Amino acid sequence: MMRRRPTLDVLVDSTDRRRALCVDVESGLGGPDKHIPPTWFYDEAGSRLFDEITRLPEYYPTRAERSILAEAAREIALETRADTLVEIGSGTSEKTRLLLDALAEVGSLERVVLFDISADVLTEAAAELGRRYEVDVHALVGDFRRHVNRIPRGGRQLWVFLGGTIGNLTPPERHDLLCEFESGIGREGHVLVGTDLRKDPARLLAAYDDAAGVTAAFNRNVLSVINHELNADFDPGAFEHCVVWDDAEGWIEMRLRARRAHTVTVGDLGVAVRFEPAEEILTEISAKFTAGQLAGELAGAGLCPRHAWVDEQGDFRLTLAQAAG
Ligand code: SAH
Ligand code: AVI
Repeated sequence: MMRRRPTLDVLVDSTDRRRALCVDVESGLGGPDKHIPPTWFYDEAGSRLFDEITRLPEYYPTRAERSILAEAAREIALETRADTLVEIGSGTSEKTRLLLDALAEVGSLERVVLFDISADVLTEAAAELGRRYEVDVHALVGDFRRHVNRIPRGGRQLWVFLGGTIGNLTPPERHDLLCEFESGIGREGHVLVGTDLRKDPARLLAAYDDAAGVTAAFNRNVLSVINHELNADFDPGAFEHCVVWDDAEGWIEMRLRARRAHTVTVGDLGVAVRFEPAEEILTEISAKFTAGQLAGELAGAGLCPRHAWVDEQGDFRLTLAQAAG
């Protein structure tokens, strides 16, 4: 087969991205409970910082998920015999190569679709997969909160959502996205979802507040993104990185806490945002699941778990599901 260059479709161009960021900043910083969706961490610098996080000694999820994939990839390939692998929130797609190797080995793989909001990391990953595999590689720059229905359909699809990114969504957002997955994969298709599991809060807190300060830099990077894209004048150094375990919700919260009273101007919105001392912006939730929790959420979206794998330490779970019925 002739090797082709990856194709690139941009569903979120820079104007659309700015417009969506404006909406999120206006609604998120306009009221008393300040929040910014975690989607905005991932400009080029943010994606690089996330990649650094995945190699930190305290941050176990990437290693745990990779160890599961190393064990289970062949089984997943045999069970799905997918011709199309679609990865949502694909990032570097580094772990995904284990699945692609297995699908290539069983001889079913024809096409890879990578979907991510971060154009830089996406195009690099697509180029790398294009060099490694003799299959069509299609990169889609899109927002999984809005554009999942634009993912090409047909064939035997395997949609993968790795890294525990599902935990960065609120329960209603998770429900909506899983429903989109159910309608996207078709009768023959499968979904593979990675979820981080509940564990000792001390380990969780360390994973999100590492000694080298990489996660703190990643958290503050969202302020630099708003500065660059919306002409704001946040001083990232005026905010402290804070991590809280919410036991009732079962999630980690990352916040940015103002060190002093000050006012930030967001030029492109023509607004001034006042911060009181110790006032916080919620920048991310990262849900940690109990054993049966994802199965319940999958069922609520019309999906049925077929197989699940947990790493040796019991830290992380991969679940393979199909449309129910
Ligand atoms: N799946 C990879 C990367 C996880 S990091 C892994 O397991 O290591 C989360 C990824 O989701 C980033 O690449 C980020 O750019 C992407 N992302 C975050 N919000 C998104 C959104 N709303 N739409 C599409 N991609 C998003
Ligand atoms: C992408 N996501 C699953 C990561 C997580 O663990 O929630 C993002 C992250 N935030 C801080 N460190 C890593």
